[in-house]
Amino acid sequence: MEYLVINGGKRLQGEVTAQGAKNAAVGVISAAVLANDICIVDNLPNIEDITNLIAAMNDLGIKCRFIDEHCLEIDPRNIKNHIATGPSVTKIRASYYLIGVLLGKYRKAEVAMPGGCNFGNRPIDQHIKGFKALGAEVFVENGLVKAYAEDLTGTSIYLDVVSVGATINIMLAAALADGTTIIENAAKEPHVVDTANMLNMMGAKIKGAGTDVIRIKGVKELKGVEYTIIPDQIEAGTYMIAAAATGGDVTVKNIIPRHMDSLTAKLCEMDCSVMAGDDYIRVIGPEKLKATNIKTRAYPGFPTDLQPQMTALLSTAEGTSFITENIWESRFQYVDELKRLGCNITVEGKAAVVEGGGRLTGAEASATDLRAGASLIIAALAAEGRTLIGNVRFIDRGYEDIVGKLAALGADCMRVDSKEQAKKVKFMRELG
Ligand code: EPZ
Repeated sequence: MEYLVINGGKRLQGEVTAQGAKNAAVGVISAAVLANDICIVDNLPNIEDITNLIAAMNDLGIKCRFIDEHCLEIDPRNIKNHIATGPSVTKIRASYYLIGVLLGKYRKAEVAMPGGCNFGNRPIDQHIKGFKALGAEVFVENGLVKAYAEDLTGTSIYLDVVSVGATINIMLAAALADGTTIIENAAKEPHVVDTANMLNMMGAKIKGAGTDVIRIKGVKELKGVEYTIIPDQIEAGTYMIAAAATGGDVTVKNIIPRHMDSLTAKLCEMDCSVMAGDDYIRVIGPEKLKATNIKTRAYPGFPTDLQPQMTALLSTAEGTSFITENIWESRFQYVDELKRLGCNITVEGKAAVVEGGGRLTGAEASATDLRAGASLIIAALAAEGRTLIGNVRFIDRGYEDIVGKLAALGADCMRVDSKEQAKKVKFMRELG
């Protein structure tokens, strides 16, 4: 099993370039399946979730070929079946988009129930509600979500819960339906907008993406296009938080600063200096961080995917902070691992109280999911001494070359294959 070894206490300094957005990439790659010709998708992040989705698509007969490390050619012209199963489907959450595109293009889909991070209950009832409203018969059998339709007919769909996945999936299924579909109470995340922009370039007629009412006027076919994914707001935010946690001075490049507004506001409340340019944000951490409070909400609220990283940061601030997780049922499972580094956090259901000001010290800990792993990295960078982080595979699901990027910012950080190898690692600062 691989581990990350981090020797903390070092100020991060310099520039880091954000990867393409994971949660946009999965929607955009899936949308390409709807085309009647080849699509080229650029600025893809080189991460496990994308590798797995591409493997699932290849199994369907959708020919995916990397032109370079971040650019993928997708040929959906010879799909051999509509049944997606196997580990590449069940490992990731975004495999549910295969239901929307197979149903939308072929009026039939059989896709294994999705996997993804374990935050407690993660239903897909709103996806199914949308497919049924369009005229599909949808049921779960033998672990597969099965959806069939004679025809798909545009209709109005009110989402009971603001759902990124359901919003994107209904757009995917409705793009080739007969008539107009209206999604009300739609998610407004940047990755919803990015997927809608890709579909419109392909010839779809989608209006209102980025607002809570999206109109999709069905068309007969969609053409192949070349498309570039937006930058990853969560990866970028993770490096902004790392800068704050180490009293560092880091510029995160190739981002859309507006997407970072909620985090920027919170870092300013904590006494960081944050300066934004057209496509970058510079964060300078203060000597002493101030406590603040976080309530996660759908975009443009504070993103739940930065909640674990912020909890680690707030552990290094002076004072008491209150965090409320309003999106997921159980997204504080990582707290026990943070406590191994000395974080003082009390969790009650969807709320956590962070007593800052304590001394963080390196320890052995394990990632419990993707962003939990990122929170451990933040705490390890701020801690005195050495931290060994297990379950690195979770982190690889969403972060491209995180060790290389952190090392380039001056962090003492290395990936090793075993605990024995970790013991042999000596960072310059440790040699005195
Ligand atoms: C997407 O998950 C992201 N994943 C998640 O990011 C992110 O945490 C989440 O959106 C919220 O922003 C991808 O895009 C691949 P939702 P998704 O549907 O689509 C409830 C990461 O770290 N709900 O917006 O699964 C649900 O239980 C990952 O990158 C229903 O009740 O999230 C939750 O409370 C982790 N019924 C809320 O809606 C449904 O049918 C938001 O979920 C669907 C969702």
